[in-house]
Amino acid sequence: MSAQVASNIQDTEHQWEEFLKKKYGPYKTSTETKHFQEPIIAELADAKMEAFLLENHEKQTFEHVQTMKEKYGKLDKAYMGIWDMLLELDKIQLSKKDPQVPQKVHGFQMAEAMRREGQPRWLILTGLIHDLGKYMYLLGEKPWTVVGETFPVGCKFSNRVAYPRFFENNPDTKNKVYSTKLGIYEPHCGLSNVNFSFGHDEYFYMVCKELGLPQEMLYIIRFHSFYSCLLEGDYTFLLTEHDIEMMKWVKVFLQYDLYSRGEKIPVDINELKPYYDGLIAEYFPEKIRW
Ligand SMILES: [Fe+2]
Ligand SMILES: [Fe+2]
Repeated sequence: MSAQVASNIQDTEHQWEEFLKKKYGPYKTSTETKHFQEPIIAELADAKMEAFLLENHEKQTFEHVQTMKEKYGKLDKAYMGIWDMLLELDKIQLSKKDPQVPQKVHGFQMAEAMRREGQPRWLILTGLIHDLGKYMYLLGEKPWTVVGETFPVGCKFSNRVAYPRFFENNPDTKNKVYSTKLGIYEPHCGLSNVNFSFGHDEYFYMVCKELGLPQEMLYIIRFHSFYSCLLEGDYTFLLTEHDIEMMKWVKVFLQYDLYSRGEKIPVDINELKPYYDGLIAEYFPEKIRW
């Protein structure tokens, strides 16, 4: 990957995260849903982020999602342990002027904040590993299909997704079925039966789903960027009771995902290694297929 590409990726990601923090004030991620109707604070972004969102909203089609599921579902991209993948993602970070911390630092900031606050062990581990699907960058994918908000495809796009007008040129909006409220889905069919825009969330979920992990962990991995539902309260017509139950954990998780970046950066990650090696081994085999 060239330094220029890496720098663009990091800039886009950084701006996206800043945007989310502005859009969702701290209380927005509370376990309560009473703030769903609060006005959106920030809908303005700079040109670069707009270009990223435009490309994302135009190209995330039902067909694209099927193509990516086919491509990544084979799990033939790597055979590697969790810790090694955390280190591998350092290769994404090449730009010197970049204000972002490396992926692994974000993971450790979250996990350490959770650990200090006495969160369950499985959640601490989820904090550490939830973004490992960003390995897609190293496989040559562009930001529009790696990061950003995720949303269902195969039914009408919600206007609670940031910048809904950018969906205008998405071919699915002209499709007779996909452009209806329910699209190909039954009411309250459950999110496990819904196709989502493809990014690091879905990819890492596919990596993890057969490994016997706690269902809450899998749920967070898959849905941690589904803001239009989690934080805006939309798409309730697709949810089951089980989804609502699981979402409580995603909301706890999001408080750390969006607000643990101020955490002290661990000086020496190797000092943390023994604890996290043990934690990883509790849930994952030594190596897994990516
Ligand atoms: Fe993520
Ligand atoms: Fe994250």
